[in-house]
Amino acid sequence: MADSNKHFRLQDARQSIGQDVTIRGWAYNVRSSGSIVFLQLRDGSGTIQAVVAKDKVGGPSWKAAQEVTIESSVITSGTLRVDRRSPVGVELECTELRLLHRADEYPIGKKEHGVDFLMDYRHLWIRSPRQTAILRIRDTVVRAMRQAMHEMGFVLTDSPILTPTAAEGTSTLFRTDYFGENAYLAQTGQLYLEATAAALGRVYDFGPTFRAEKSKTRRHLTEFWMLDAEAAFVDFEQNLIIQEQLVMKILERVLDECREELKILERDLKPLENITRPFPRLRYAEAVAKLRRTGAPIKDGDDFGGDEETIISKSNSQPQFITHYPAAIKAFYMKEDSDDQRYVLNDDLIAPEGYGEIIGGSQRIDDLQTLQQKIKAAGLPLADYQWYLDLRRYGSFPHSGFGLGLERTIAWICRLDHVRESIPFPRLINRLRP
Ligand code: 4AD
Ligand code: MG
Repeated sequence: MADSNKHFRLQDARQSIGQDVTIRGWAYNVRSSGSIVFLQLRDGSGTIQAVVAKDKVGGPSWKAAQEVTIESSVITSGTLRVDRRSPVGVELECTELRLLHRADEYPIGKKEHGVDFLMDYRHLWIRSPRQTAILRIRDTVVRAMRQAMHEMGFVLTDSPILTPTAAEGTSTLFRTDYFGENAYLAQTGQLYLEATAAALGRVYDFGPTFRAEKSKTRRHLTEFWMLDAEAAFVDFEQNLIIQEQLVMKILERVLDECREELKILERDLKPLENITRPFPRLRYAEAVAKLRRTGAPIKDGDDFGGDEETIISKSNSQPQFITHYPAAIKAFYMKEDSDDQRYVLNDDLIAPEGYGEIIGGSQRIDDLQTLQQKIKAAGLPLADYQWYLDLRRYGSFPHSGFGLGLERTIAWICRLDHVRESIPFPRLINRLRP
């Protein structure tokens, strides 16, 4: 036990039956019956029942067992035995127990708590089986994303978080003081990726992004993680295929690695298992027509709100691309469709089961004059975008990219009611704490 990196962990319990082990963890439940104390222990990697019998341990261990409260931290040694009644199939027959810290009365009980209460105790709530399952899935999604991008030839180039300009509209900027100058927290890394794409061809970033979203919906965080991707000499069509491949790789990996977690979440796997590419595509104009047929009060030229996204999302069991939005309601950098310049070569990927947009992407404007006009028309200060315009002055190139929102992707995969559970410490319009 000298090497602290080699501690036994409960994830290996099933393969270690008959062995003497030491478990370091927390008691998530305690029950006693006369001369036996049953401790439900978790160590972050798994759970187990530890049985402390008065006649099998010494006096100090028995005393410690009496004192264990819910969420107390303990170190206990003993032998791993088969136990068919336990879901893990194993239990620990204790020979020694040490109480590291006796927890105060734990505020989160077995009774139903309201969401506000749980969010106030988010720092403790994350210990629960459901929350740890979501966090594990998050870890898997991130690994799958990075690997998929690497396999498709993309190089990770991180974008700055403190930026001098807006990329996704000025209404959701978080402003901060940068030594007397205004700086803004990045809404996306896209503009910087367009620069690194000219250096490396295919690039991506992955990091926190920020939007002062005034909307209080189940899809909006003010701080969320985004994977932005950008690829040189890739057009609108090829861009969609990259997005499909990324989403498929994420799903495959989660379905492969996270069976237990999905079971804890009671996630029906069928809808995820049935997803295949290519994903259906719908032009904005067709989507509007479809929405109007359902009675939605949307007018041609309107952007989709949460309600419209939900209707589209539920209309198909596959993720759907909505493409060719009106230029007027989309970001300044999107390339116009040469067949009809009122529309742009963009896509939103709408996840099924009511989840809505998880990816936004487009082909970018590569012509200097057009881009200058669009920046001006958007009311943005041209001077601040000179470096970005340089990319159209020195070897301009056709290129496309997209951004995938991590929390919305997780909310869909885990079938969560709200994105707030998909990130360890959510930031929402009305929540900065804990
Ligand atoms: O569609 P968005 O705004 O696209 C961009 O920012 C592009 N610059 C990306 C690019 O082309 N490189 O955001 C991308 C994704 C959305 O599809 C959504 O999944 C997520 O980011 N997202 C949010 N997630 C949680 N809370 C919010 N407030 C979000 N806003 C966007
Ligand atoms: Mg979008």
